[in-house]
Amino acid sequence: MKTILIKCGGSVMDKLAPTFFESLKELESNGYQLVFVHGGGSDINRMLDLFQVPHEFVDGLRKTTAKAMEIVEMVLSGHTNRKLVSNLESKGLKAFGLNGSDSKFLQGRFIDRERLGFVGEVVKINLRIVSLLLREKYIPVITPIAITENGIKLNINADFAAAAIANALQVDKCIFVTDVDGIMIDGKLIQQTDIAEVQRYITEEKITGGMIPKVKSAIDAIEKGLHSVMIVSGEKKFFEGSEWSGTEIHAKERVLQ
Ligand SMILES: Nc1ncnc2c1ncn2[C@@H]1O[C@H](COP(=O)(O)OP(=O)(O)OP(=O)(O)O)[C@@H](O)[C@H]1O
Ligand SMILES: [Mg+2]
Repeated sequence: MKTILIKCGGSVMDKLAPTFFESLKELESNGYQLVFVHGGGSDINRMLDLFQVPHEFVDGLRKTTAKAMEIVEMVLSGHTNRKLVSNLESKGLKAFGLNGSDSKFLQGRFIDRERLGFVGEVVKINLRIVSLLLREKYIPVITPIAITENGIKLNINADFAAAAIANALQVDKCIFVTDVDGIMIDGKLIQQTDIAEVQRYITEEKITGGMIPKVKSAIDAIEKGLHSVMIVSGEKKFFEGSEWSGTEIHAKERVLQ
């Protein structure tokens, strides 16, 4: 079985094009099974504003107080996950929503409680339910919330959750779907790049904001054994025939033959 992990950014959730879903169907007919992880940055911001809960980002991660965590869970599990599952279902794809914190599916720990509050990293993954759904040909749609050993729920940056799940499942491909065509440098799309080059772009501040956790988690996943990671736009057809459009990140630069 070939598997693809697709992280769908909150940035593009409400803008997914019909051709995006065509790409998904094409992948399925090429024998790939799909697993989704979703973000929800914009939905969360809107709700935090509504409840007048202040929010700030520290090193690209959302500082999450106990009050904010309640809202993060309400929005991600109750709204964003539902939206993506319904969207996939309405396009004829069989999807099933999963909360990362249920049954210790995603086990996490605090990164730095003092600085970041209820923000975590994934330390262990229990793949039983995902495997069960894949066996029955469902597309699991995963909310990036983890649970600690003591039962505390943690907000996990969706890019990092996606990378951790991609490694645990040993997927054949990992794709980050976002609201830009891929990594843009000086206004141009970079089609192929490698770890060293991406790190240089970060140092040169040509990769900033939300693209930083994305490329960092891509690097992490590649270093842990993934062959490559793609960053693609959800507003377009990103796979046709066997051609991908977007940025592909490899361990090392490929020698063109
Ligand atoms: N070099 C770059 N190339 C492309 N995008 C970049 C670059 N540097 C920064 N960005 C920003 O990164 C953004 C994508 O990350 P962002 O976190 O906003 O979206 P997402 O991860 O898809 O959504 P969410 O965080 O809600 O899951 C782009 O919209 C762009 O503004
Ligand atoms: Mg993001």
